[in-house]
Amino acid sequence: MVIYHLSTECYPVAKVGGLADVVGALPKYQNKIKGIDAKVVMPWYNKSFVHDHEFDIVFDGFIHQAENMLQVQVMKEKTNALGFELYMVKVPGLLDRDNPYGYQDESFQFLAFQHGVLHWLSAMEIRPDVLHCHDYHTGLVPFMIQNCPEFQFLKGVKTIGTIHNGEYQGMMSWNMAKYMPSFDSYKWGLMDWNGYINPLASMIKCSDAFTTVSEGYLEELFISFRGLESLVRQEFGKAYGIINGIDTEVWDPETDPMLDFNFSIKNAVAQKKKNKEKLCKEYGLKPELPLFAFIGRFATEKGADLLPDVVWKSIKQSYGALNIMILGSGNSYIENKLKEYEYTYTNFALDLGYKEYLSHKIYASADFLLMPSRVEPCGLNQMYSMRYGTVPVVRYTGGLRDTVEDISTGGAGLNFTYPGVDDIVHAMNRAIAIYNQKGVMEDLIHANMNFDFAWEKSAEKYIALYNN
Ligand code: ADP
Ligand code: GLC
Repeated sequence: MVIYHLSTECYPVAKVGGLADVVGALPKYQNKIKGIDAKVVMPWYNKSFVHDHEFDIVFDGFIHQAENMLQVQVMKEKTNALGFELYMVKVPGLLDRDNPYGYQDESFQFLAFQHGVLHWLSAMEIRPDVLHCHDYHTGLVPFMIQNCPEFQFLKGVKTIGTIHNGEYQGMMSWNMAKYMPSFDSYKWGLMDWNGYINPLASMIKCSDAFTTVSEGYLEELFISFRGLESLVRQEFGKAYGIINGIDTEVWDPETDPMLDFNFSIKNAVAQKKKNKEKLCKEYGLKPELPLFAFIGRFATEKGADLLPDVVWKSIKQSYGALNIMILGSGNSYIENKLKEYEYTYTNFALDLGYKEYLSHKIYASADFLLMPSRVEPCGLNQMYSMRYGTVPVVRYTGGLRDTVEDISTGGAGLNFTYPGVDDIVHAMNRAIAIYNQKGVMEDLIHANMNFDFAWEKSAEKYIALYNN
C-alpha cells in the first residue's frame, strides 16, 4: 500500500510545532509495517536541511493560478535519510520561503502546494492508494481530486484528513476561487462554510475519513469547533480519534545527543539532578527548589496569556520556594510582561525563541512540566516530559486528558480542570508538596518513564483505517 502524506511541516526539515514531529515520525513507523510504503510531500523551504542534503529533480512543470503561470519543481531527497521518501515542492515566489507560516499571501502559498502536488501526480501518472492530508493547508485536496477535471487521473484515490488543530481553518473569500484549479462549479457547496471557502470544512466533507489526534479532542469538537460543530456531528460516521505517538529514537534520554547527562530509568534520579543543576546554574536558578517549566508557543490556546500571573502568584504564594523556566515565543504582550518579571524575580528564567536543543535539556532537567492549555488536540510536550522523567501538570482537556492521569486516581501526573491562574497555582502547590515528600518524587519519575507512547500502536491504527 502506497501512502503519500501531504504536510507543510516535517521534522527535521521544517518544524513549527507538533505537526512536524508527527509527520517526521509516523511514516517512518508505518514503513516498519510489512507491505507499507509511506512517503512525505511538503513545500520546499530555504532551510539548512535542504542545503545539507542532495536532491534529484523528479518533475518540472507549470500550473496556473488565474492569469499567473507558476513553475512547479518536485525534488526528491536522494538517500531517504529520514526513513521514507521525501519530496519537496518548489514554486518560485511561493514555495521557496524561509518558514512555513507568517505570510500575508498564505492562501496562494497553500493553493500552489495542493495544486502543484496534484498536478505532478496526475502528470506523472502516479496513483497512490491513499493521500493522507494534514491540517487545513492540504484540506482542499479531497475536493480537488474529485471535482477538478485536471486531476481526472486521481479520481477515486482514497483520502484521509487529519485535524491537528481545528482552531485554524484557512478560511478565504470566494474571490480566491479563481486561483484554484478549475472545478465543477456546481459543487461549490463542498468547499463552502458560512459564505467562505473553508479548507478544513471541505476536508471534513470530502475526505473518505477524517481523524483527530486524540479521542478526547474529537469529543470536544462536537461542542467547540470554531463554528464547525454541526458539521462534525453530521459527518461523525467517518470520524476517528487516533492518539499521536512520539519518536522514541529521537526522544531517548539514554542516547539524546542534546543532553548534558544521559540517563536510563536506572540512574534517572541522579542524572536528572545533574542536568537540573547545570541548567539552573546557567539560568541563575536554585537547584535545590522544584523546577517548573513551560515550553511552547505563546498563544491563548496554550494558556500562555496566564503565564505572567502564574509566575508572580506562584512565587508569592510559595514564598519563593520554586523555580519557573519558560521557553517560547509569540504574542508580544506576553513576551514583554515575562521579560519584566525576569528582572523582578530571581526564581524565574526566560528564554525567548525557538531552541530545539534547549527544549530537550529542559524536558530532562525539570521536575514538573506545566501545560495550562485551553485547547490541546493531542500535545506532545507532556509525552516528551514523561519519557524524560518529568511530571506533567496539565489542564484536563483534549489529548492531555487521554495521556495524563492525576496521581490521586493512580496516575503519575497532575490535572486541573479550569484554565485559570488560581487553579494552575493550586496544582503547582500540590506539586511542591509532592516534591517535598521523600520517595514520592522518585516513584513518579520512574512511573512516568515507564509509560509507552511509542508510535507503533497508532501507526497500526492508521493502517487499519486505510484498509477500511
Ligand atoms: P503545538 O504543535 O500545538 O505547538 P505540541 O505539543 O504538539 O504543540 O508540539 C510542540 C512541539 O514544539 C514540541 O516538539 C515542543 O518541544 C516544540 N516546541 C514548542 N516551542 C518550542 C520552543 N520555543 N523551542 C523548542 N521547541 C519548542
Ligand atoms: C497541533 C496541536 C497539538 C498536537 C500537534 C500534533 O499543533 O496543537 O496539540 O500535538 O498538532 O498533532
